[in-house]
Amino acid sequence: MWPYPKIVAHRGGGTLAPENTIAGLRAGLAHGFHAVEFDVMLSRDGIGMVMHDPDFGRTVAGVGSVAATDAAALAIMDAGRWFGPQFAGEPVPFFTQFVDYCRAQRIWMNIEIKPTDGFEAQTGRWVAATTRELFADVLADTLGDGGAARDPAALPLLSSFSVEALAAARDAAPELPRGWLVDRIPDDWEAQARALGAVAVHTNQKHLTAPQARAIRDAGFGLFCYTVNDAGRAREILGWGVDGFCTDRIDLIGPGFA
Ligand code: G3P
Ligand code: MG
Repeated sequence: MWPYPKIVAHRGGGTLAPENTIAGLRAGLAHGFHAVEFDVMLSRDGIGMVMHDPDFGRTVAGVGSVAATDAAALAIMDAGRWFGPQFAGEPVPFFTQFVDYCRAQRIWMNIEIKPTDGFEAQTGRWVAATTRELFADVLADTLGDGGAARDPAALPLLSSFSVEALAAARDAAPELPRGWLVDRIPDDWEAQARALGAVAVHTNQKHLTAPQARAIRDAGFGLFCYTVNDAGRAREILGWGVDGFCTDRIDLIGPGFA
């Protein structure tokens, strides 16, 4: 149900480095992490960029939005200075560059499709189609046996809060696994997860209950939580059968925690 790493660094390097940057990946590696969650949205010219916020002002200075700015202009913005002077000049990564770095360093990826409003299907399609191209070698290698992947963890896991984005990802690259992200588990979660062809449900650890965890796992889905920064809570939800989670506190909760 969950062939992936159990403990995943949130947004690159959690709270130890500017989020969604290569510096974040380096911080994760320095703490032994070979698993990352990060966010992707489209630039004005339709290129996937690793960013969390649709608008400037927090991780990059100034006024404006990702959806209204071309990728080349985003890529030279400073996504590190807000975090600390030692990270000044850290760029906004292109999605393809981020994936290349992860693959070279053998970092498993939970790719969160984070569309800006109105670009849900376009973003889901772009991320899935581009990921398929970037993993063409793995797909050729692992899907040779009647469609049964020999090493499912060699592929990244796409996820999104946007049902429209996930449906578009499913249609563009059905062979890539998908996790359905929800803040709270709705009553009809199983029907929705099945309709999306999801392999896992990703949910906010704050609202998850033990019976919900049991039901999701009993139905055959993986169960992943965000964002677990307290070791006691981590132990509690792992005890409920949660398969994995992402954490900001990569200094407190290591890759071998589970
Ligand atoms: O993918 C889980 C988590 O990252 C969702 O919240 O806002 O940190 O992208 P956010
Ligand atoms: Mg995210």
